[in-house]
Amino acid sequence: MRFLKTAAMAAIAGTLLAGSALADDVKIGFLVKQPEEPWFQDEWKFADIAASEKGFTLVKIGAEDGEKVMSAIDNLGVQGVQGFVICTPDVKLGPGIVAKAAANGLKLMTVDDRLVGSDGEPLADVPHMGISAVKIGETAGEAIVAEIKNRGWDMTEVGAIRVSYDQLPTAVDRVEGAIAKLKEAGFPEANIFDAPQARTDTEAALNAATVVLNKSADIKHWVAFGLNDEAVLGAVRAAEGVGIGADAMIGVGIGGADSAINEFRKPEPTGFFGTVIISPKRHGYETALNMYDWIVDDKEPEKLILTSGALAVRDNYQDVRKDLGIE
Ligand code: GLA
Repeated sequence: MRFLKTAAMAAIAGTLLAGSALADDVKIGFLVKQPEEPWFQDEWKFADIAASEKGFTLVKIGAEDGEKVMSAIDNLGVQGVQGFVICTPDVKLGPGIVAKAAANGLKLMTVDDRLVGSDGEPLADVPHMGISAVKIGETAGEAIVAEIKNRGWDMTEVGAIRVSYDQLPTAVDRVEGAIAKLKEAGFPEANIFDAPQARTDTEAALNAATVVLNKSADIKHWVAFGLNDEAVLGAVRAAEGVGIGADAMIGVGIGGADSAINEFRKPEPTGFFGTVIISPKRHGYETALNMYDWIVDDKEPEKLILTSGALAVRDNYQDVRKDLGIE
């Protein structure tokens, strides 16, 4: 009896030891398409917090193109990683990423940009966390409409810069959400100008918006929206470049990382009127935790989680950030 009890206790202790050893051995990859963008820096920061809370190793890799994605996944396999979260540089890499992950025996979850198959439809089997893109685009559009009215501009005399990146479905949803709200308010469709950006960074947006501004030099009032803060910051900088300042530009971005908030901290307002703040904490911390639970407890993440956003402008951004638990 005494022997049995000791044996049972030893078995329990063994299980506990094995359990904690397992947690120590967990390695999770976190691949992002644009490591220099503040949004992705923040995502990594919050994923790091999950790693230190749970005691797993986080392997962060910037993968800016398809080739880098594929070699990064092999690299994770070699390092003994069990699963990874990815924001891909190109959603059409979907089937290739799924195959590469499987070949390396890695669990796969996507964040921000949802993978699509060869038919262009989302790969619904891969767990994904993204933003509710149409709704957040609508919030940006509503903010622009409200400010046009506030300034007493005649809509027929306003140009809209649609900074676009149409190969990315979430980008289309965001700008179309904004456009829907503009049109609903009577904004003339003919005054909406497409500014396709070659990449999703500020410089590419600046170049794209400059073309539009130069083509329509007769328009004096402008609004701008796009995929993210970088897109709108590019349009705002382009406008400044041709002498259009804060009083003649209403740009509303999506994101709310430092690059955007810094516009509100400048002593004088800029054309960057507002941003719809989204949550890098949910996208970084929560996805990393979801992956951890999947690896350790075999608990598969929900297939689709869409997060929300809240509008912030120069006068209220501190309160909005506080409400969201960011400040
Ligand atoms: C895309 C954009 C990022 C960010 C995320 C949010 O990946 O490129 O800037 O807006 O979506 O999900």
